[in-house]
Amino acid sequence: MGTIILENVSFTYSRTGSVQEAGLVLENINLKIDSGQFVCVLGSSGCGKSTLIRLLEGLNFPTSGRVMIDDAEVTGPGKDRCVVFQHYSLFSWFNAKDNVAFGIKQNKKNLSRKEIDEIALEYLAKVGLEDFYHKYPCQLSGGQQQRVAIARALAMDPEILLMDEPFGAIDTKNRALLQDMLLHICENEQKKRTVVFITHDIDEAIFLSDRIVFMRPKQIRDDIPVGLGNRRVRSEIFRNNDFLLLRNRLIGFFYEDIAEKLDITGAII
Ligand SMILES: Nc1ncnc2c1ncn2[C@@H]1O[C@H](COP(=O)(O)OP(=O)(O)OP(=O)(O)O)[C@@H](O)[C@H]1O
Ligand SMILES: [Mg+2]
Repeated sequence: MGTIILENVSFTYSRTGSVQEAGLVLENINLKIDSGQFVCVLGSSGCGKSTLIRLLEGLNFPTSGRVMIDDAEVTGPGKDRCVVFQHYSLFSWFNAKDNVAFGIKQNKKNLSRKEIDEIALEYLAKVGLEDFYHKYPCQLSGGQQQRVAIARALAMDPEILLMDEPFGAIDTKNRALLQDMLLHICENEQKKRTVVFITHDIDEAIFLSDRIVFMRPKQIRDDIPVGLGNRRVRSEIFRNNDFLLLRNRLIGFFYEDIAEKLDITGAII
């Protein structure tokens, strides 16, 4: 469960005007993500990453082509998918536990209040916030709020986790802690979820993913398996030669659209 397939997907935001006028935001994308894979999407600002997530979420639909999840075409949002955004979308009037409980209630309507609260506390513990269950979002740091958002998404028990720059607003240290936490949860949960994770951070993408999809405007530039093994150790991976080679290759992708504006030393002219 949780296999994603995009078949010849093109998309324009224009509903009324012609595609020629508005322009395509995605053009003829073909992509298959296997169940349980952790895929990071990289690419310059405006190339269509968030649009891709919106199609997977079922908030927008392809202008042509199909988005399929487990052989069924996506016709709208579903319980099988959850999204975590950069800006923590918590309800300010609920405490941390009730924010997580709210998500569970949406997906598991047959559970009692007590059962829901137990699951909420279990997931807050997984993200290291068991002592903060009674705090309101305004009483939590940005990183803590993002932990609650991740706990809520995981507690909803989706097959697919869609993450759009979830750690984009977090400082370096807390970002590293959140990355470790996410990897730990993904590796240790019984259910292997499919994760599509958008980031601007090359190191983060390599550290987290099984595979990197690099987008250029409208299209996929490259689709690269990250063969660094399962059990990643932060202190070792950043010195690994394969890591450094892949990092350089990805940096090259970011600069290739302005290659003609670079002089031979790499400075922008
Ligand atoms: N609601 C919208 N209506 C019209 N055009 C949009 C809308 N949302 C995004 N776009 C356009 O679609 C293109 C792709 O935007 P998208 O948000 O998918 O890029 P992105 O790769 O996520 O960028 P970033 O890295 O800055 O978040 C951009 O040219 C953007 O201006
Ligand atoms: Mg975006």
